[in-house]
Amino acid sequence: MSDDIKHEPSTLTFNPLDPEEFRRQGYKVIDFLTEYYKSIEKYPVRSQVEPGYLQKRLPKLAPDDPESIETILKDIHNHIIPGISHWQSPNHYAYYPCSTSIAGVLGETLAAGISVVGFNWISSPAATELESIVMDWLANMLNLPKSFTFSEGQGGGGVMMGTTCEALIAIITTARDRVLNQIGCDNINKLVIYGSDQTHSSCFKSAKIAGISPNNFRSVKTTRAHAFALQPEALRAAIHSDVKKGLIPLFLCANVGTTSTSAVDPIAKLGEVAKEYNMWVHVDAAYAGNICICPEFRHVINGIESMDSFSFNAHKWFLAALDCCCVWVKDSSVLTRTLSMNPEYLKNKATESQQVVDYKDWQIALSRRFRSLKMWLVVRSYGINYLRSFLRGHVDMAAYFEEMVVMDRRFEIVVPRNFALVCFRLFPVAVISRHQKFLEEESLNELNAELLESINSAGRIYMTHTLVEGIFVLRFAVGSTLTQPHHVSYAWREIQDHTDRILARKIQSWGC
Ligand SMILES: Cc1ncc(COP(=O)(O)O)c(C=O)c1O
Repeated sequence: MSDDIKHEPSTLTFNPLDPEEFRRQGYKVIDFLTEYYKSIEKYPVRSQVEPGYLQKRLPKLAPDDPESIETILKDIHNHIIPGISHWQSPNHYAYYPCSTSIAGVLGETLAAGISVVGFNWISSPAATELESIVMDWLANMLNLPKSFTFSEGQGGGGVMMGTTCEALIAIITTARDRVLNQIGCDNINKLVIYGSDQTHSSCFKSAKIAGISPNNFRSVKTTRAHAFALQPEALRAAIHSDVKKGLIPLFLCANVGTTSTSAVDPIAKLGEVAKEYNMWVHVDAAYAGNICICPEFRHVINGIESMDSFSFNAHKWFLAALDCCCVWVKDSSVLTRTLSMNPEYLKNKATESQQVVDYKDWQIALSRRFRSLKMWLVVRSYGINYLRSFLRGHVDMAAYFEEMVVMDRRFEIVVPRNFALVCFRLFPVAVISRHQKFLEEESLNELNAELLESINSAGRIYMTHTLVEGIFVLRFAVGSTLTQPHHVSYAWREIQDHTDRILARKIQSWGC
């Protein structure tokens, strides 16, 4: 040490990354999770706690001194697990799945362990290069046109983000700038965003963040008669009406697998309409995009070649664990023109060479997770064939459930099933004919809401609902990694039991 430096720091005795301690605690955590998966079916699927339950159980202040992993894991078991709705339970049929796997969890662990922040190529070349390779692999598995891949070398390619909402913010902002660069920023209030009334709320939220006036969001009406798919003529009419008012059609979010009912918009035809107005078309296939790796389902994205961007959530149904939204664009230069920032502290020779991808310029945030490591593990660990059979297995189980619903004449299927989501409701015709009361939609809705709450509060299975054309719909989404056919039979028996009890109570209360 040089003579004129007076201060000599003392060696840190605290090492929060001590390798042997990492191994010891790591095994404890894996053991904990192993036991969790083995006993997951004994927990109520939907958490049964009351709001504020945890405040009452945990200390008001953080500890001054270290606590052992054993103590912390015990508290997770005693206090956190009761407040968990068990998404990985085989009896979880709520929302859409958030499937995980050994490869998904260990991929997350590896990424967290290696812990890099690959915002540009030089900050971790493998993180960037692996992401581009895996995105091309996935594009190939989905049979996306080559124009969406890096391998074609024409500016197309893919990026991994956290969520669809993040993807839509990046994409709508890009589409906005593409137009404003031509017509001037003063015209931002003329830009219009289109989707159907089934489009996920994240599209309009993203448009709001991108500065598009909420008066200019068009949720074009869909109907049960068309299985809630956006009709090209309805889109055209909405666009015409806006153009007549001097507004400028900017962006269409086309849906492949809507959140409520898995409706599939006819994207090729919608694309033709949108292209007449030079609009950007994004295909949101957050859920159903996963199953497009199966050739027999790939037709739902026929026409993708004329779209500008496409995304699906691999954390929904691809064994990937939260989070990973895979997004492809045909022309990355428009994306990077909007999202690129080059402050001095990030400048480097690789970027200047223009031979590398700097993913910070493809997304909203600067820092980013090493998601491709996880996706690489998932695809390699299971292979395309196993992934396909996993997804097909869920569709089969959903078809089996649907058959049981159809056979019970107290129920009806509300919209035809496309994938592994069954949309149904209690529609007890025999009871209706005797009790005028149930003829009203509102009463039927109340009955179905009561049935759902009765099922979910019992905790043996968990489903959620939606409302379409004023109909309260029960959603049964098969997709949990651990679900097997006997779980589906069990779920159906559970639904029937609750139905028997509720209908018996109703009939008794009417005195017949
Ligand atoms: C069709 C569709 N789009 C978008 C989203 C929103 O996804 P994220 O939470 O990744 O933003 C969902 C969520 O379920 C969805 O089903």
